[in-house]
Amino acid sequence: MPTSLLATSRPAWSLLQAHAAAMKPAHLRDLFSKDGSRGERMTAEACGLFLDYSKNRATDETMRLLFELAGQAGLKGRIEAMFTGEKINVTENRAVLHTALRAPRGSTVMVDGRNVVPDVWEVLDKMAAFADRVRSGAWKGHTGKRIRNVVNIGIGGSDLGPVMAYEALRSFSDRGLRMVFVSNVDATDAAEALRDLDPAETLFLVCSKTFTTLETMTNAQTCRDWLLRAFNNDASSVAKHFVAVSTNAEKVKEFGIDTANMFGFWDWVGGRYSMDSAIGLSTMIAAGPAAFTEMLEGFRVMDEHFRTAPLEKNLPVIMGMLSVWYASFFGAETVAVLPYDQYLKRFPAYLQQLTMESNGKRVTLGGEPVTYQTGPVYWGEPGTNGQHSFYQLIHQGTKLIPCDFIGFARSLNPIGRHHDMLMANVFAQTEALAFGKTPEEVRKEGVPEALVAHKVFEGNRPSNLILAERLSPRVLGTLVALYEHIVFAQGVVWGIGSFDQWGVELGKVLANRIIPELESKAEPALGHDSSTNNVIRRYRKMKA
Ligand code: F6P
Repeated sequence: MPTSLLATSRPAWSLLQAHAAAMKPAHLRDLFSKDGSRGERMTAEACGLFLDYSKNRATDETMRLLFELAGQAGLKGRIEAMFTGEKINVTENRAVLHTALRAPRGSTVMVDGRNVVPDVWEVLDKMAAFADRVRSGAWKGHTGKRIRNVVNIGIGGSDLGPVMAYEALRSFSDRGLRMVFVSNVDATDAAEALRDLDPAETLFLVCSKTFTTLETMTNAQTCRDWLLRAFNNDASSVAKHFVAVSTNAEKVKEFGIDTANMFGFWDWVGGRYSMDSAIGLSTMIAAGPAAFTEMLEGFRVMDEHFRTAPLEKNLPVIMGMLSVWYASFFGAETVAVLPYDQYLKRFPAYLQQLTMESNGKRVTLGGEPVTYQTGPVYWGEPGTNGQHSFYQLIHQGTKLIPCDFIGFARSLNPIGRHHDMLMANVFAQTEALAFGKTPEEVRKEGVPEALVAHKVFEGNRPSNLILAERLSPRVLGTLVALYEHIVFAQGVVWGIGSFDQWGVELGKVLANRIIPELESKAEPALGHDSSTNNVIRRYRKMKA
């Protein structure tokens, strides 16, 4: 390992810089016309996912150099360090073992001298038994009624994964159960969520790794008050209507939830990597333990692939390195993720936290400021909706926006011609982005000269296409693990730590300082800057 973790210290970096300068003028039209087999060759397949990365502004030489960079950053060794429980989250002195959450029963993953796999499966079994009781109606509320509504209270990783998975697996879920998600400290979220629910039929899952998060604890209290109001303040009702998912048994007890109704996880699971831990309890209740197990298998096969496949055939490495290519060498600031499946409508939102909370870093693990772009902004919407909204900018704007398209061979709702129409759009978009339409082609269509420039599609806009058979629980697990490992591969190459999130702390601390200033009856003495002082005073006046 060199003393510097800066990616610029790797010999392949300057080779890539020179190569990028040569590649920038190259057009995908030419790359394809000069290389007839590129469309078949620049593909990879694993774990039920087919990846076409041929429509990237990259050649075999680009890929070779990118893999060289990954090799020089010690990616293989870092992967092994993660899987074997080394404390690679150095700023929090923690192992990073979301992969242990899907380790097979009976396998061994050691953390501080303890095999954690039996602990993982003990929780999974407890979740399954509980989920079965809720789903079958054996778990009764305070008045003896069965549960019809499940409210997940959590935020960040304790919300985005569960919401995304619930939407993604809707077709596999028990339609007799209504799943509701409350995350925002804005009371509107809880008020709207609760307004049509019968307390006697409602179960709350309070999900918080720390059990101290302002939003979650405030919402949990509000929901508890709502429940107690319905049951004449009978505190014994809480045990039948509240369970907790947390690493913090102390705080769970303090809140008044029986720790018998607590589902644990561990500090080696990061919040944004926790949807397959007990944080996925809502997923398991909705889709059932069998679907959850299948989803874990999907995660697991991608883990094995990431750990064992050579870099050139490794899906997360290929995609991770291509995103490094665009972010660090082409100045691309974003990646659009465009799933052509309505069930994946929350997948981009989920990825926002996974990618940006992980790789939104400006110093290396050693604390050195980086001199290149790191984590891009991940964003997106399901297709075809996005086509009628923001694709204009991707096709004809001035920004370079690499896109990940995700499509499926079979629809879960095979009605009429919908699916072929949907998939035709996926293929058409990647084709249009790559090859565009030249002025000559536009003119040939008889377009008046004044409009030619407007109707030209420059093309040369890169995309990946991921194709899977259909969106099953297993494929969902595979897709999530794919992006988890893309993030890791990027982080290793950039030399940054992907598993802490110090950037969220300052705002939390300042908000806690400001809350009493907003609430105090007497005019508070304010010690902020003149702008913050001014808006606080203005707010106090306006709300009065
Ligand atoms: O806002 C930062 C964060 O710590 C996320 O990383 C995390 O997913 C979220 O808050 C929620 O934290 P918790 O599960 O502890 O309530």
